[in-house]
Amino acid sequence: MRVTTLGEMATGLAHEVNQPLAAIAAYARGASVRIKGGKANWDELAEVLDRIAEDAHRAAEVVRRLRQFGKQRETDRSAVDANELVQEVCRFVAAEAAHRQIVVTLKPATGLPPVLADPIEIQQVLLNLILNALDAVAPMDATCRHVVVRTRATARGTVEWIVDDSGPGISANLKEQVFEPFFTSKEQGLGMGLAISRSLVESHGGRIWPRRSKWGGASVGFSLPIMDGPQGRSLCVGGARQ
Ligand SMILES: Nc1ncnc2c1ncn2[C@@H]1O[C@H](COP(=O)(O)OP(=O)(O)OP(=O)(O)O)[C@@H](O)[C@H]1O
Ligand SMILES: [Mg+2]
Repeated sequence: MRVTTLGEMATGLAHEVNQPLAAIAAYARGASVRIKGGKANWDELAEVLDRIAEDAHRAAEVVRRLRQFGKQRETDRSAVDANELVQEVCRFVAAEAAHRQIVVTLKPATGLPPVLADPIEIQQVLLNLILNALDAVAPMDATCRHVVVRTRATARGTVEWIVDDSGPGISANLKEQVFEPFFTSKEQGLGMGLAISRSLVESHGGRIWPRRSKWGGASVGFSLPIMDGPQGRSLCVGGARQ
């Protein structure tokens, strides 16, 4: 699974970095031709340089995100409270949401058992899901921009985080593809958010899935085994704390 993903990543990476590099080369060559022909003016050149800087920035961003994905960061797992994690992420995105006139509502379940997790990694997953939800509802009418983040415990010994939105939803035929590295429908997107999220969730022994929300938008959830459940105990013994 991981090997396939890395293989796909390499192909995707080559494409994602090559595109801006090819554009940079073309802009630079074009500008050079105009200068040599005595046709260049400063405004035009400034615009070309801006485009070159933008594309260089994009290539660098791809590499930065990829590094983050592939980095063998020491995972640091401890007993975490699902609600505390999500509260912090909501505080973090509040300004961005307000700026886009979106209210992110938190509906935390009470009495959740702790999960054994790396809080930074799980917050990264939540951040990716919430940012996707903000992107999804942003084009909707101001009265129809709903993003709700819920937590719940299940009878299967897991805790779930679910992000519901009132955007256009994820169509059934894209439900697998959206988790592939570099799959994106956004002009400024890299298509890394869900791929990274799935990798992080699965490394915790959890699952992530897309469904349909009550508004017909997306409802993307993930589950992690609780610390004292059978799966959680085996994670403790199996190396998560080593
Ligand atoms: N809540 C959502 N509603 C509708 N479509 C979604 C939602 N979340 C993800 N998608 C679709 O899945 C694609 C992949 O999402 P992913 O988070 O991996 O990448 P991205 O958001 O495009 O870019 P980024 O790397 O910046 O996160 C999105 O481009 C979008 O088409
Ligand atoms: Mg995203």
